[in-house]
Amino acid sequence: MARISPSTIDAVNAQTDIVSLVGEYTRLERRGSDWWGRCPFHNEKSPSFHVVPDRKMYHCFGCGKGGGVINFLMEMDKLSFVEAVETLAKKTGIEVVYEGVTGPLPPRDDTREKLVELYDRVAGSFHWLLTDSPLGKKALDYLASRKVSPEIIEEFRLGYAPADRRWLYGFLSKKGYSPEFLAKSGLFSKKYPESAFFSDRLMFPINNRKGQVVAFGGRILEGEGPKYLNSGDMPQYKKGETLFAFDRALPEIRQTKSAIFCEGYMDVIAWHQAGVKRAVAPLGTAFTTEQAKLVKSFADTVYLSFDSDTAGQTATYKAILMCREAGFQVRVIEIMNGKDPADILFNEGPEVLIKTLEISIIDLDYLVSTAGKRFDIASPEGKSRASAFMFPYIEALESDIQRESTIQHLSAAFGIREQALLSDYKNRKQPRPAFQNGQEAEKPVKARNVRMNAELRAMLAVVANPAFFPTMRSSFASDDLEDPFARDLYIVLEECYRTDSTSVESLLERCPNEELRRLVTETLTGGEFADNAKKTVEDSIQLVRKNVLEKKRARLVARLGMLTGADGDRALAELMSEKQRIDEELSKLKDANE
Ligand code: UTP
Ligand code: MN
Repeated sequence: MARISPSTIDAVNAQTDIVSLVGEYTRLERRGSDWWGRCPFHNEKSPSFHVVPDRKMYHCFGCGKGGGVINFLMEMDKLSFVEAVETLAKKTGIEVVYEGVTGPLPPRDDTREKLVELYDRVAGSFHWLLTDSPLGKKALDYLASRKVSPEIIEEFRLGYAPADRRWLYGFLSKKGYSPEFLAKSGLFSKKYPESAFFSDRLMFPINNRKGQVVAFGGRILEGEGPKYLNSGDMPQYKKGETLFAFDRALPEIRQTKSAIFCEGYMDVIAWHQAGVKRAVAPLGTAFTTEQAKLVKSFADTVYLSFDSDTAGQTATYKAILMCREAGFQVRVIEIMNGKDPADILFNEGPEVLIKTLEISIIDLDYLVSTAGKRFDIASPEGKSRASAFMFPYIEALESDIQRESTIQHLSAAFGIREQALLSDYKNRKQPRPAFQNGQEAEKPVKARNVRMNAELRAMLAVVANPAFFPTMRSSFASDDLEDPFARDLYIVLEECYRTDSTSVESLLERCPNEELRRLVTETLTGGEFADNAKKTVEDSIQLVRKNVLEKKRARLVARLGMLTGADGDRALAELMSEKQRIDEELSKLKDANE
């Protein structure tokens, strides 16, 4: 089996800047020499994700995830160890050296990479057809009729899928793609493998966060059929975890710490064309928790920019709850007369669209005004329906303080006594599940079966300062330890020491269980053993050594007590001299400690 050589792993570790790597996924802020941010692995409102550049490690105090750069990429992009190392090596320009390779490299599943390559090529062809071929004229005219600018057509690499459903198959076959590969590309009909899935449609390439094309949306231009067709989930694409235009929006999302959530492709494009580049949209589904999480790492505020029709209002209501549960501040961009952002841009121009953003209202005001329109607040019946409409919102708020002040606000708005509102709220029907799309809210893993003790402390001190391993090894053996975690760590260190691989990865890789991994990452990022390392490590090693000796001594004394004449003088002398050695060492240790 081919293995990546330790030297490559070390080089990748050394060359990768963990702060900028992690920074691609969550916003980090510097505190002292470390960096903190919101955990990209779980939803959280305050930052408990800790990056220690000196050690090239990260650790989340919320969910307990932690590790080094390789492990981070594995978890984040769902890559294998080898894929993660190869990706980082490519980034940092390191040549990957494999070990134990006999003959050619074993085949690796690179379907995903190949699909990304394929989609990129197809996006390029669709774009060419739109902009440079007579076939695309109709689609180009359509875009012009909607005032989509040539710059935006370029920027979003919009395209045209030709009406001839056989064209794509012929084109790709000529480029050497196999029928088997094309069959699983998601670009062709399941029933007729040579027939293209998208035909005679305006094409919207959907990018992953790195800006690579991973899927398509296609809008109908004429005739019968669904208005939009969207790619289904693929190895390289999960629609519930992807946002349209996220890659293009990210710089402005970071900079303004806010994002605009729209309903679809054309609305996103309208905002970008108006120069507001932080607009994103889901892909033919409602917003998911995963999508909110994607944005939450970089932003505090979400602006909802949905259609003003009934469907748009329902979507707004749901999105408010979802975004509040994700911990966002929420503002609603109101667009009058059943229109959407694209209509505003088309009919009234960019300034008017931007104005709607400036006069956006906070979600509470939006909901109160919606309730006022929907229910007859003057009647007791209407009051109670309006309250029920608001309860899920109250529930989704972040804190009791916010809940209380919202209840006060509603009491005034609906003319209901605060007490009555509060007791109705408390007696409300079954609370909604934490997140609407069937996913349970992630529970931070807090369970720790690990109790700190002298042995564990000593082992962790050595983990943080591996240069002291030889000192420790000459002081006690793994069998001397009683704590099972400490013993496991000893063995892990021993293995690392023997194979001369003290990288974070090899350390974590050898940890036999999740708890130990957590403990190690927590320690390495915690900095507890960083100051005064020599003294801390030596003291803790000595403490364990002392405990070990005392236990030995107690056993010796017990054996001495059981000695009988039959055992002979020699046995007695041996035990006595052993006891003497222990006593001497113990008194030396005590002196040293004083
Ligand atoms: P809209 O009908 O509002 O589309 O649907 P749009 O993006 O504003 O496009 P125009 O302005 O009418 O040309 C909103 C989103 O819902 C999804 C698409 O993602 C669309 O952008 N949708 C809509 C579908 O997936 N399939 C459909 O048939 C319709
Ligand atoms: Mn629309």
